[in-house]
Amino acid sequence: MTTTQETISAEIAALHEKAAAEREGALEPDPEPTRLDFAPYRSSLLRHPTKALQQADPESMERLAPVFGQQDVGPLESDLTIQHRGEPIGERTVVTGRVLDGAGRPVAGQLVEIWQANAAGRYIHQRDQHPAPLDPNFTGTGRCLTATDGTYRFTTIKPGPYPWLNHLNAWRPAHIHFSVFGTDFTQRLVTQMYFPGDPLFPFDPIYQAIPDPTARDRLIAGYDHNVTRPEVSTGYRWDIVLGGARATWLESEDAQ
Ligand SMILES: [Fe+2]
Repeated sequence: MTTTQETISAEIAALHEKAAAEREGALEPDPEPTRLDFAPYRSSLLRHPTKALQQADPESMERLAPVFGQQDVGPLESDLTIQHRGEPIGERTVVTGRVLDGAGRPVAGQLVEIWQANAAGRYIHQRDQHPAPLDPNFTGTGRCLTATDGTYRFTTIKPGPYPWLNHLNAWRPAHIHFSVFGTDFTQRLVTQMYFPGDPLFPFDPIYQAIPDPTARDRLIAGYDHNVTRPEVSTGYRWDIVLGGARATWLESEDAQ
């Protein structure tokens, strides 16, 4: 029988209670603080290595990995609304922010990539076959390099929430997947950005897999009326922090 939302929510609440007790010192801290297994997020149990990492010479790894040059990333690639002949359907929005290191210094020249569902919550992906329409004018991928002050900026369409098969009536809050590279391709960092006030937050085992509520909150962009452009688009601001106490939560693997 498919698990109900009630069961999933009860599992999330129990794990959060345990994590809070650990933070407050009432319980011994979890020896695995990254929590690769988060049981309410069912497929997380299958999505991570179970054996120790294989040591590899980073230099030979880098020779095999793809490379990118500054000239390969065009300025138009950060606008997901102009990749086809017509305008995509949905709320046009700008998402901008800065990539910062743990000391708050800007990280310049970083390759930032995004991928997302369209306004109806549908991905252009063979495995996404739920009955919502594809948009012939929207692919849902973009990339840019951060400026000298660490700023990235995308123009896109606000994605819709979408159902998935974790449990009965499981829906993901609207989100944009982000990937940031460090100094080489073996340092890829992947996370998700959410929109403020989403009613699906309490029900989502991926968002709730982060036990610390302040770390969860840091994945939510802020609406910024100064980024909103008259007659054109709404605007959100979201910084990515690569280390330190206010680091952005990063996935160990790509999540749905
Ligand atoms: Fe997604």
